[in-house]
Amino acid sequence: MSTRPIVAVPPEALRIVTFDAAMEASIAELLPRYPTRRAAVLPVLWLCQERFGWISPGVVRAVAARLGESPAFVEGVVSFYTMYQTAPPARYVLQVCTTLSCAWCGGRELVAHLKERLGISFGEKTPDGMFQLVGVQCLGACGTAPVVQINDDYYENLDVAKLDAILDELAGRS
Ligand code: FES
Repeated sequence: MSTRPIVAVPPEALRIVTFDAAMEASIAELLPRYPTRRAAVLPVLWLCQERFGWISPGVVRAVAARLGESPAFVEGVVSFYTMYQTAPPARYVLQVCTTLSCAWCGGRELVAHLKERLGISFGEKTPDGMFQLVGVQCLGACGTAPVVQINDDYYENLDVAKLDAILDELAGRS
C-alpha cells in the first residue's frame, strides 16, 4: 500500500508564513500556466497543503500576498472545498463518498462501520491523531463504488472486510 501519511506542521509554526526558495520556485513554475494569478489560487493552495499538511490562517495570508489577492478571497476558496484542511489533520484522512451510487453499493454500511470502529463521526479525528473521517460528495468513481479516498489515494469496490484490512495496515505503521 503506497498511501503516504500526512505530516502536519504545528499551528504555532504556521502563524506567520514565508515561502522558502523551493516553494517560490514551485509557485513560479505554476503561474505561467494560468491566465491570471487569481486563477492559480487552487494549485498554489494545494502546493501549500502538500508542504504544510493543512492551510492555516498564516498560509492564507501568505498565499493572498503572493497572488495579490485579499485574505478574504483566499479564505473563501479554502472554506468552499472539502479538499483543503483548515486544521492540522490526522495522519490518514478518510473521505467517504456518501452520494447515491456509493450509498446503494454498500457505502452506508462502510460509514456505519467506520463510525463504530473508530468511535468518531464525520468531521472528527481519533484521539491518537491517526484517522479522520470526512463525508464527501461523489468522488467521480461511481463505477467502482463504494469508494473511500485516503489521503491522495482511492480505494474502490470496498466492503467492510477490505476496509478493515486497509485500516489494520495503516494503523500498524510506525
Ligand atoms: S457516487 Fe461515490 S464515487 Fe460517485
